[in-house]
Amino acid sequence: MKLSSRTQAFDRWIRTAFVEMNTELENRYFAQERRSDVLGCGDEIKLQLRDEGRAHVIELLAEGNTGDGFDSAFSVLGNVGMYLAALRRHELTNPARETRSPFLEASSLALHVGASLGMAPRFATSHLATRNRAVEGVRKSFTSLADEFIFIDENTRGILLLQSAADALTTIVHLGASSPVADVPFAAAKRAVQDVIASNQRLAERLDVQRFFYCVRPYYKPYRVGRQEYRGANAGDFSGINELDLLLGVCRANDPYYAQLLVDKMLFMLPADQARLRECMTRTSLLDELLPLIDTCAHTDWFQQNALLYLETFDVYAQSAIQHHDILVKKFIEVPAGTLEEAALEGITASGPPLSVLLGALEILRDMRRAADRPDITSRYHDIARLRAAVH
Ligand code: HEM
Repeated sequence: MKLSSRTQAFDRWIRTAFVEMNTELENRYFAQERRSDVLGCGDEIKLQLRDEGRAHVIELLAEGNTGDGFDSAFSVLGNVGMYLAALRRHELTNPARETRSPFLEASSLALHVGASLGMAPRFATSHLATRNRAVEGVRKSFTSLADEFIFIDENTRGILLLQSAADALTTIVHLGASSPVADVPFAAAKRAVQDVIASNQRLAERLDVQRFFYCVRPYYKPYRVGRQEYRGANAGDFSGINELDLLLGVCRANDPYYAQLLVDKMLFMLPADQARLRECMTRTSLLDELLPLIDTCAHTDWFQQNALLYLETFDVYAQSAIQHHDILVKKFIEVPAGTLEEAALEGITASGPPLSVLLGALEILRDMRRAADRPDITSRYHDIARLRAAVH
């Protein structure tokens, strides 16, 4: 990876002084009686963070487009994005009280690099997950708190595993759902999703609720870049999860609710993921391949084998969706948010809307993924039941 010396210097700062200042601020906020209070605490550190970061940003802005390629631009976008997210977290900016970002240089840099890459001008999940390069074992983070590393690492494991499940199901698209050798990719997909469930379980057990809620999650708030406000990053900003939705057939690209969600997340993903998702949107789902074969082929060995494997994969996927909502979202967001008063709740969700709206939207996704018996949403409940009935 070829990086300019200014890009490297910024990256070094993000991995060292930036982390130290954020960690010190988090420890100070956390030691207060009201942990959600940020204003008036550690002001001298906040200003140091703002000014040191600005000096790097100004240098990079003056350097302009170095033509160093994707890796370099991607690194700058992640770093300037993390810098802006930290300024938001420490209340040096707040989209609710401003019409444009007070950080002009950082906004210009993020807009320039984001537009040139074809990504939103802010840090994305991939910066802290699948493209978070470890240096001597240390990956990039906002703080050095153990709970942030638990969160980043298990999120990344979940993403890697879901992506490999999606890779496996994609190979079935090419083999055809009636292929007798589809057992290999179905088994790989099922195993990968089972491993996601184990990773989520570890996360649920090891992550400290208070630390996550007060010291990790606030870096994922929406913030303004230039005039526009951009939602926060979330672990779902990669194509694999939607490839699984579409290939299993539990969500459809022509369903207006789901299509809107795909459009909204496009720029939060790596360009390579955007291309994968676009291609996947043109495929027929495995469910829609299997259903028309029931009447003519249900008696065959290959149908019985592949329909059963499909259903087993669907079942673990449904379990993982239920686990995300009923355990992770509930334990780490819904329950602790219940203890905060209204004003402190602002900006708790990464995507921006009020918590009740966000929870309703996440519930719809969970119910699509488990093909729930819910007539008010597009659910494959009856189709899954039909396939189950055809399997001995
Ligand atoms: C402490 C752990 C976690 C919590 C509290 C959590 C919470 C949330 C919340 C609140 C959202 C809605 C967007 C937002 O405002 O952020 C979301 C989205 C999402 N999360 Fe998580 N999450 C966690 C871990 C994970 C992990 C490990 C994965 C798997 C890779 C994951 C996958 C997703 C996906 C795919 C979405 C996008 C919506 C969807 O398509 O379902 N999350 N999460």
